[in-house]
Amino acid sequence: MIELIDLSKNYGDTHAVRKLNLRVAAGEIYGFIGPNGAGKTTTIRMMGGIIEPTSGRILIGGSDMHADPVSAKKIIGFVPDRPFLYEKLTGMEFLKFISDIYQVQSSLFPSKAKKLLEQFGLWSWRNEIIAAYSHGMKQRLIIAAALLHDPKVLVIDEPMVGLDPSAVRLVKDILRDLARQDVAIFVSTHTLSIAEDLCHRIGVISKGDLLAQGTLAELNSAARTGDADLEEVFLTLVREA
Ligand SMILES: Nc1ncnc2c1ncn2[C@@H]1O[C@H](COP(=O)(O)OP(=O)(O)O)[C@@H](O)[C@H]1O
Ligand SMILES: [Mg+2]
Repeated sequence: MIELIDLSKNYGDTHAVRKLNLRVAAGEIYGFIGPNGAGKTTTIRMMGGIIEPTSGRILIGGSDMHADPVSAKKIIGFVPDRPFLYEKLTGMEFLKFISDIYQVQSSLFPSKAKKLLEQFGLWSWRNEIIAAYSHGMKQRLIIAAALLHDPKVLVIDEPMVGLDPSAVRLVKDILRDLARQDVAIFVSTHTLSIAEDLCHRIGVISKGDLLAQGTLAELNSAARTGDADLEEVFLTLVREA
């Protein structure tokens, strides 16, 4: 469902992302981990069609994000790292606004919005303005909004930053649930325990290069770390890069 082919992005002399190749299948949760400045957000912005690659391709459900952005964007749910929220809207108004952008059939909107707001623990807050929401509530609302059009692919940048443990659990459960419904999920995080716990496969990026990818066992074999935990594998890979 997701295919990145020789994807690169340069900023002047900086190789923010270099020749990235990876695939994510339907029903798979792919974790993207790396130190600050590794190139995670740059990769995700290219996947969402926010910035243009310097070279390489992005296929979303077979549609090229550059050549056919309308088809690609129809099936992608996208959660940026610093989302923009219209804080004077209520949660419900915000969902309606996003739903109109995605051209969700308006007769379907009330039941979809109710289901998502309940799922994300925001139903009783639906008529409060977003300015009154906590950080965690805003984050949950953003993820809910990204699911309004039933995307087959979900791309999320650092979804757990600033969430309390119960919200982290809620988001993890929802992502697992979506994967069981065959959504392909690409999630960046620098919280290794979340990646280890949540993701089927993990890619480790540092200074723009994908150092290794696969299951924890495959990463261990790439790093020659035996059966170490993700933290040990990650630190070894990044140190040797
Ligand atoms: N708009 C930009 N202009 C110049 N350099 C940028 C820009 N965005 C990102 N970079 C650089 O690209 C590299 C990767 O950044 P980023 O993708 O944000 O990393 P991460 O999300 O992994 O922390 C960093 O060296 C960063 O300074
Ligand atoms: Mg980032």
